[in-house]
Amino acid sequence: MSNPWGMWLRGNDTEPFVLSRKQGWDRFVNAPRRALLPVLTRAEMGRLDAESLADYTEARMVWNANLPIVRTQQLTSAFAIIDQVMASARRDGDRARGSVVIDAKPGLGKTTIATRYGKDFHRLQYRRYGPTTIDGHQRLPVAFIPLKASITLKALNQKILNFYGHPAGTAATRFELADLAIDCVRSCETRLIVIDDVHFIDFRHRDGLTVSNHLKSLANEMAVTFIFVGVGLAEKKFFDEGMIGEEAAYAQTSRRATRCPVVPFTLGTDDGFRGWVDLLRVLESHIALADAHPGMLTDHAQLLHRRTQGYIASLTSLLDRACARAIGTGGETIDADVIGGVEMDNAAQTASPIG
Ligand SMILES: Nc1ncnc2c1ncn2[C@@H]1O[C@H](COP(=O)(O)OP(=O)(O)OP(=O)(O)O)[C@@H](O)[C@H]1O
Ligand SMILES: [Mg+2]
Repeated sequence: MSNPWGMWLRGNDTEPFVLSRKQGWDRFVNAPRRALLPVLTRAEMGRLDAESLADYTEARMVWNANLPIVRTQQLTSAFAIIDQVMASARRDGDRARGSVVIDAKPGLGKTTIATRYGKDFHRLQYRRYGPTTIDGHQRLPVAFIPLKASITLKALNQKILNFYGHPAGTAATRFELADLAIDCVRSCETRLIVIDDVHFIDFRHRDGLTVSNHLKSLANEMAVTFIFVGVGLAEKKFFDEGMIGEEAAYAQTSRRATRCPVVPFTLGTDDGFRGWVDLLRVLESHIALADAHPGMLTDHAQLLHRRTQGYIASLTSLLDRACARAIGTGGETIDADVIGGVEMDNAAQTASPIG
């Protein structure tokens, strides 16, 4: 007999999505929703044999570690800003478009915002224009390019070509690579390019400046809207003309870039408190524990905020661990003790008040 929990044990995919390749991006965009995991009562769990119970436990761990992406206030307002900038994406190819800079501290959901926006945009373009371009190429409305530390211009163009699966030889010069990359973008009718982790560009180094200038000139030259994502980009003066000399082209780019900040949840205002509680309510309704109940998280809104400082990444990792503890100890619920006992990530831990 096949394993009744097999579907959930596998998770949504047999291997992680590699968003930086077109195949991985495509699977991310078209991934079906997870089937709902049935939550057993304590009595039902008691009737399972040891192996089935172990499999059910593992299935729940996978489920609880993959809580849904929630339409938070931050996500909704970021989407509204990107939508506004994308309004200019309808301009004819020869006219300049804007770009978006999602600039915020680590762990606030920046990459999630950019990839989810890209996913919706990709699906819309497919529905409207179909899977192939007029010239018969595969349509790839969105390209996702995450940067690595100390990236060079050549490596950047290779990354773009890798996304498209272009077999560019390493022998090609950086100028040839740049031309090939532009060709890919044009022939696949890419309309949105997300450049993630832009803070990896070392602006104090000549290579870094070349990469940053190249990105800005691509944003100027191509019929594409760019979303640049990174940490502390304003402080690094990513878009300040001063950094790159007085060249008019860059001053123009700066003027065309729209900053999209992402802030932690705060409890100081009614609106902020409501946003946090709404998020907790959605998450608690998805947690697979036998004694989960409405209010399990929302009743601890203050404590959860204190432990995470309202950072969504800290919250989701706290919940992963809290769920694992609740299952491991047989407590089957999340309460103040469980929340208080979870080890936090380093940043949240050092920011938490002691006692
Ligand atoms: N809207 C959301 N709903 C639910 N969970 C979210 C949401 N946004 C982010 N998360 C969770 O927070 C985690 C961190 O999000 P993400 O990677 O997007 O943040 P980031 O700001 O890009 O972080 P970094 O600065 O480390 O790159 C994700 O793994 C996800 O679990
Ligand atoms: Mg990120």
